[in-house]
Amino acid sequence: MKLLLQKSSAPAKPLETLVVFVSCTDEKKINVPKTDKTIVELIQAANAEGALRGKPRESIFFRQARVADRDHLLTIGMGKGPWSAEDGRIAGAYIFNSLKSHRCEAAAIDLDTLGKAGRDAEFIQGIVEGILLSRYEFTDHKSKVDKKPDPHESRPHEISLMMSNPTKEAEEAVRAGRILSEGTNFARWLGDHSANFLTPTSLAKAVQERAKGTRVKVQIWDKARIKKERFGGLMAVSAGSSQEPRFIIIRYDGAPKGKKPVVFVGKGLTFDSGGISIKPSANMDEMKYDMCGGAAVVGTVMALAELKAKVNVIGMIPATENMPGPSAVKPGDVMVARNGKTVEILNTDAEGRLVLSDALVYACEQKPQAVFNVATLTGAILVALGNIFTGVFTRDSKVMKRIQTSADAAGERVWLMPVVDEHLDDMKGLHADLSNISSGKGAGSSTAAAFLEQFVEKGMPYAHFDIAGTAWNVHNRLPYAPKRSASGVMVRTFVELAKSYF
Ligand code: BES
Ligand code: ZN
Ligand code: ZN
Repeated sequence: MKLLLQKSSAPAKPLETLVVFVSCTDEKKINVPKTDKTIVELIQAANAEGALRGKPRESIFFRQARVADRDHLLTIGMGKGPWSAEDGRIAGAYIFNSLKSHRCEAAAIDLDTLGKAGRDAEFIQGIVEGILLSRYEFTDHKSKVDKKPDPHESRPHEISLMMSNPTKEAEEAVRAGRILSEGTNFARWLGDHSANFLTPTSLAKAVQERAKGTRVKVQIWDKARIKKERFGGLMAVSAGSSQEPRFIIIRYDGAPKGKKPVVFVGKGLTFDSGGISIKPSANMDEMKYDMCGGAAVVGTVMALAELKAKVNVIGMIPATENMPGPSAVKPGDVMVARNGKTVEILNTDAEGRLVLSDALVYACEQKPQAVFNVATLTGAILVALGNIFTGVFTRDSKVMKRIQTSADAAGERVWLMPVVDEHLDDMKGLHADLSNISSGKGAGSSTAAAFLEQFVEKGMPYAHFDIAGTAWNVHNRLPYAPKRSASGVMVRTFVELAKSYF
């Protein structure tokens, strides 16, 4: 699908739908946009009928309206201003979904119908993101068998954003919106693959493939290298699987060489069966999503590279399956992490923290400006925060401030969770330094976070993001996220976060 910014005077395209915004006042009266007389009459008539009220999430399609040289008309309710980037995303979602369900060939969005607000760069970027994020659909595993070819299936083919005088800022907003959406959609696409298609090896290949022709460099460690580098956690977790582990390092250098990098570490469990501490069968299929942290890291680095952001960034993804098998790690086994710390594995289902331990040690060895960890780490975070907020764990208030600002700019929701020394006390081992599960009750996400901290250099600016509640199935919250698919959460926030380290 083509998406472009155009002058309002550009000629209409065949079968084009005109999209106009209708807002309303406090008194619930509609603000009729200053536009073509026929359009105004249609809107007023629909309003008099009680069908059109200018409220948010309202979309009304007038087929064959034949207005302003266009075939069809779509009105998008906006409620009362001021309008944020998030209002733009929601409007973008309603625009795209309405055009798709009405099988529209092409559309032109008249930004001027929202007045000055419609020409705001943040709002425009929001619209672009809302459209492109809504367009995501995962069809890689669908066959063409028994399917009649439908030439109109991929409609709409073209959407243009029109303004009387396209500005440089608007052009830049369209570009940024496109890149951020593509990064998010790539993370979703990786996440939605079934685990038999997306193994640690094929994940590594997919990342390599994606990075071809870009300024992103990818390095893949195989099992022998992982062992040589003393990644005891990744070795232990992968022991039960017939699939070999991989450690994926992906870097983009947008700043001069001397500038310290920002490192993102993402959990890459291509399937988590729980291992010997096997999970119950209900919803176990969802554990193909246990690599969504890793996918978010890939999406982030790709987006930063496409944006040509002036930052050095490294992504690290420990990738493996967690399976029961004759050589699988057993409850009570002890592993030695890269920094020499020993861990009693009392529950093989608490595997994320084990693979992340080595990666965090390695991340700190790169002498970075900051380290961020992202993982579908604990079921407990879903209990605490549901599918709205991603839980953030950090003891560094300056880092949290940056994260909050970045998440606000990206329109993603984060919540600061507690992590204190008492949480670490619960993670002490009996015969080893640490245990991989808590000896206390509750606070499972916090004790997991305290465990991770044991592998981060003292004083290093650091935060851990638990996305177990937000990585998939979030449709009831976000109209621009797929109903039951990966959400690509945190890509947009991480891009902002990395950019804050310019
Ligand atoms: N991948 C899971 C966490 C998870 C659960 C993510 C549900 C998304 C939805 C993780 O590896 C896990 O199994 N964690 C255990 C830890 C426990 C054994 C201490 C959990 O949360 O139950
Ligand atoms: Zn697990
Ligand atoms: Zn897991």
